[in-house]
Amino acid sequence: MRVLITGGSGQLGQALQKLSPPSVELIALDRYALDLSDPRACEVAVDELTPAWVINAGAYTAVDRAEVESELVYIVNAKAPEALARALQRTGGSLLQLSTDFVFDGAQGSPYQPHQPLMPLGVYGASKAAGEVQAASALDPDRLCILRTSWLYGPVGRNFLLTMLRLHQERETLAVVADQVGCPTSTHGLAQACWSVLEQSLVGRHHWSDAGVASWYDFAVAIGELAMHCELLQTPALVRPLTTAEYPTPARRPSYSLLDCTATRSALGLSGVHWRQALYGVLEQLRQI
Ligand SMILES: NC(=O)c1ccc[n+]([C@@H]2O[C@H](COP(=O)([O-])OP(=O)(O)OC[C@H]3O[C@@H](n4cnc5c(N)ncnc54)[C@H](OP(=O)(O)O)[C@@H]3O)[C@@H](O)[C@H]2O)c1
Repeated sequence: MRVLITGGSGQLGQALQKLSPPSVELIALDRYALDLSDPRACEVAVDELTPAWVINAGAYTAVDRAEVESELVYIVNAKAPEALARALQRTGGSLLQLSTDFVFDGAQGSPYQPHQPLMPLGVYGASKAAGEVQAASALDPDRLCILRTSWLYGPVGRNFLLTMLRLHQERETLAVVADQVGCPTSTHGLAQACWSVLEQSLVGRHHWSDAGVASWYDFAVAIGELAMHCELLQTPALVRPLTTAEYPTPARRPSYSLLDCTATRSALGLSGVHWRQALYGVLEQLRQI
């Protein structure tokens, strides 16, 4: 089975390549090989390579910068998936479109279900919501899987874990937002879920995150504690909780973005790993690098 991965240099793109099943003929393209800001190039790539599946792991993910680059963000996050979907409709392939918890506004105090209405707060979330809708408008529903995830991190790339590890090393105290709640998700577990989606031809709207719940503050504290345990740090910084009001950012973020993954886990036959356990696994991996 030939599979095309976009965003091959991203943190999920790299995890997907690492965990690719032997039966897959993998073509992973970075931005230089396939520029997602050029929807025509996306169509040409699918027409020429005729993959059985495209995993669209590429995206404009800089949530705050997105507020001032909305035109580019919409092209990359909405027009590119639409173009991939349109070409796959012609060639007979399927699309796994990655999306985000930021398609929800966070006003609900219980986990979001896959079929709830989308209410993004910022440009990034709105562009990813548009990507879901536009991909669905161009491709038959039995060939499209939308998989939303949250708070993604791994041993490589740009993410909260690697930033916090550096700050724990450099500083004595840190201040981190404690009133935004969600669930950290490791790229390893998400990549396994993606490959399972392809293996089982899962379609429709789905959610995947690690299990449990955390604030960014909880996540930062756990990173310090577990990194010390894994001998990546001698002494973690003292982490002080902040409110969102004390740490204003250009983009508004949902205060609660837990995703209900029950149906997806059951459909894929995968159990959820608690986020602290997944974090420990990633830190162990970093120790061995
Ligand atoms: N990160 C999170 O916390 C998070 C949370 C929820 C959902 N998601 C979703 O999960 C998916 C994977 O995210 P990630 O964390 O792996 O993202 P990432 O590490 O930021 O990687 C994004 C990838 O997209 C590429 N890209 C950006 N603009 C591009 C363009 N114009 N043309 C071609 N490639 C381009 C990047 O290339 P460069 O490396 O060259 O920039 C990178 O390879 C995305 O759909 C994202 O929206 C992420």
